[in-house]
Amino acid sequence: MSQSAAPRSTWSNRWAFILVTIGSSVGLGNIWKFPYMAGSQGGSAFVLVYLVCVLLIGLPLLMAEISIGRRGKGNPVAAMLNVAGETGNTSWWGLLGWVGMLGALLILSFYSVVSGWIVDYLFKALTGFQVATPEAAQQSFAALLGNPYQLALWHSIFMAFIVGVVARGVVSGIEIANKVLMPCLFLILVLLTLWGWVAGDMSAAWHFMFDFKFSAITPTVVLAALGHAFFSLSLGMGAIMAYGSYLDKNTSIANTSLWVAAAGTLVGILAGLAIFSLTFQYGLQPGSGAGLILQTLPLAFFHMPGGNLFAVFFFLLVLFAAWTSAISLLEPFVSWLTERLSIHRPTAAWSTGLAVWLLGLASCLSFNEWNHYRFFGLNLFDALDYLTSRIMMPLSGLTIAIFVGWAMGRAAVADELRLKSRAFTLWFNVLRYIVPVGISLVFLSSILGWVE
Ligand code: PHE
Repeated sequence: MSQSAAPRSTWSNRWAFILVTIGSSVGLGNIWKFPYMAGSQGGSAFVLVYLVCVLLIGLPLLMAEISIGRRGKGNPVAAMLNVAGETGNTSWWGLLGWVGMLGALLILSFYSVVSGWIVDYLFKALTGFQVATPEAAQQSFAALLGNPYQLALWHSIFMAFIVGVVARGVVSGIEIANKVLMPCLFLILVLLTLWGWVAGDMSAAWHFMFDFKFSAITPTVVLAALGHAFFSLSLGMGAIMAYGSYLDKNTSIANTSLWVAAAGTLVGILAGLAIFSLTFQYGLQPGSGAGLILQTLPLAFFHMPGGNLFAVFFFLLVLFAAWTSAISLLEPFVSWLTERLSIHRPTAAWSTGLAVWLLGLASCLSFNEWNHYRFFGLNLFDALDYLTSRIMMPLSGLTIAIFVGWAMGRAAVADELRLKSRAFTLWFNVLRYIVPVGISLVFLSSILGWVE
């Protein structure tokens, strides 16, 4: 039951695919969320569990998800249906595509709001930061969160930029930009980390991130770290599957996945070291939550020679990274609408964008006017983050592992992966046993943790 008869365009070469996949995975997850989660979830405990999750669960799943995309050649639902059909499995597996596409849109709704914060700080940088003290930095962030109009304005502008690209078709839209700007982002992060070393307290940052304390590892930390491994690698949301569907047959999925996982992790660690060295230097709290980088960095920029110019580049590049990730969140559903319902791409992109934008407005309000509406104690913004990262992504990762490991059949999987037999067996066994057992254990322990 093939849902995509027309030949799909492919990326221009192997590097192009690696770059766009890095573009999807490296984003606010690494630069904004990783430091803030590490800061509020026990520092090194979170970092170490996160690294283990990336290696043992994320990386194998990344390979599995790309394989489904490439073999299924279609939007996430079509890809799942095609591969399930080809390998004699039920069409119920198509549901996995749905969960992914829906989750991706939920993520996009609040992702765009956070990107809006970055737009705001870009403008602040352009006019010069006026924050000489930690209190001033905190107040300025609180003022932003307290202003729904401003949040909504930036969120709207960001969404328009995303939809604009997706409306034109992904392949042509982002390849070129990625080639230049991703390396620039990396460079500027290295410079920022060096600045953290010169002007901040790097040794405190290092200890905070890497001193292993077994006792700090709690079920909540483990679930948070697992969820973040999914989030930062863009897993389980159909994004990687959708990109994989544009991948040609000759590219090595394993190599690509290694590059993607390594790039994202490195960016996160650099961002963490830079942020925490400055956080400790200025006597700020690492656990101050979602505003961490925006309360820390302006101070650093204010005190750095040429800081404003540096800040402009920094926020521009972070925005770029957010933009390439956000595109990959919108693309799966839009490609489903165009391929399955034959809706004109621009119409599909703008109407989906509109729905996501409306939900994003609710997130903007959840910091101020609607802050009293709570879901299990969380405002809408935090609740959406929790639902997607800690529930939907791990569950869909579990399903991918079961599908590729147990249902798809070894021959079809081996045909996509084309690994040497030893390496393949190792990967396949990790996917069949370690990934599902690992995810289930994390879930169980956090459920038991709640009950206790
Ligand atoms: N990985 C992206 C980031 O770190 C977010 C993302 C999640 C993108 C899921 C696509 C799918 O910012």
